[in-house]
Amino acid sequence: MSKPFKPSVNLTDNHVTDESVYMNRRSLLKSFGFVGASTLLAQSASAADWFWEDEKEKATFQSKPLDFTKPSQYQINETRTPEKKITSYNNFYEFGTSKDAPAENASEFKTDPWTLKIDGLVKKPLVLDHDSLTKRFPLQERIYRLRCVEAWSMVVPWIGFELAALIKQADPLMSAKYVAFETLYDPEQMPGQSNRFLGGGIEYPYVEGLRLDEAMHPLTLMSVGLYGKTLPPQNGAPIRLVVPWKYGFKSIKSVVRIRLTDKQPPTTWNRLASNEYGFYANVNPKVSHPRWSQASERRITSGGLLSRNRIETQMFNGYSEVAPLYSDMNLAKFY
Ligand code: MTE
Repeated sequence: MSKPFKPSVNLTDNHVTDESVYMNRRSLLKSFGFVGASTLLAQSASAADWFWEDEKEKATFQSKPLDFTKPSQYQINETRTPEKKITSYNNFYEFGTSKDAPAENASEFKTDPWTLKIDGLVKKPLVLDHDSLTKRFPLQERIYRLRCVEAWSMVVPWIGFELAALIKQADPLMSAKYVAFETLYDPEQMPGQSNRFLGGGIEYPYVEGLRLDEAMHPLTLMSVGLYGKTLPPQNGAPIRLVVPWKYGFKSIKSVVRIRLTDKQPPTTWNRLASNEYGFYANVNPKVSHPRWSQASERRITSGGLLSRNRIETQMFNGYSEVAPLYSDMNLAKFY
């Protein structure tokens, strides 16, 4: 995503620093006790590392096992990305802009108590507390591809429930056309929110949005876990959105509010650089980002440091069943 303050000079993860180079550089520098200052010079890393370097050795978040079913239609036949990689290579700018910053800096993030509010154009506004996030709706495991706009991808076994189930309980009014999402705003816990340098120049809280029909699609998931356990903070604990046919930035983390509205809501990356990140953000190999192609992606698997795993990107990230949602739209215009 973007470098702090300069969305127009974004450098993609895969273009700037191949993972193997990045990992090698970090372990080498770490062995010299020198990661902090050096990351200021590294193009894909951030000052966040340096800021938090003295604060290592924090308590590690403990994920809890979840009860869930495994519907056969969501068990794709592709190698799952190892849990270690899913939980250590993240984008969560509230905790810093480098890929390893969220795992390092979010381990003490408090997710209980938690309040998720569903309001706006609904007949029955709802408030879910921490326990009801995992107990109110039957949980399912869904193995989805996750395709980041930066052109890397993973295969993640999420645990969650359909957003549609939640929205139905709130009973939307006829006037509701869109759904707006909001991440927790708590600069004390999320230092990137109060410091533009650490938080990538984003205006917080992080916000996202979907059209109501997209939100009601059966693929759209509210995730509370992965690999059979509750989400770790760096992946968006205690609850995050997962929209598998859209670029990863739509899948907003640590959600506290879901608001139904009649107007298209503002979204974080669109607000920062509207010529680069659209409201729709459907995965589309034919529509390039202004500064890089989206035709292929680097699949993150169990491969060693030197494995490249470049694969072709699929339209809608392979979820062709969503195509009817956009049948009358020019997807080059509505990117
Ligand atoms: N949500 C919040 N609140 N803040 C973020 O920085 N990053 C987004 C998305 N959700 C982000 C967020 C981006 S760019 C991606 S690719 C995915 O989270 C990454 O999810 P993961 O770290 O679980 O792989």
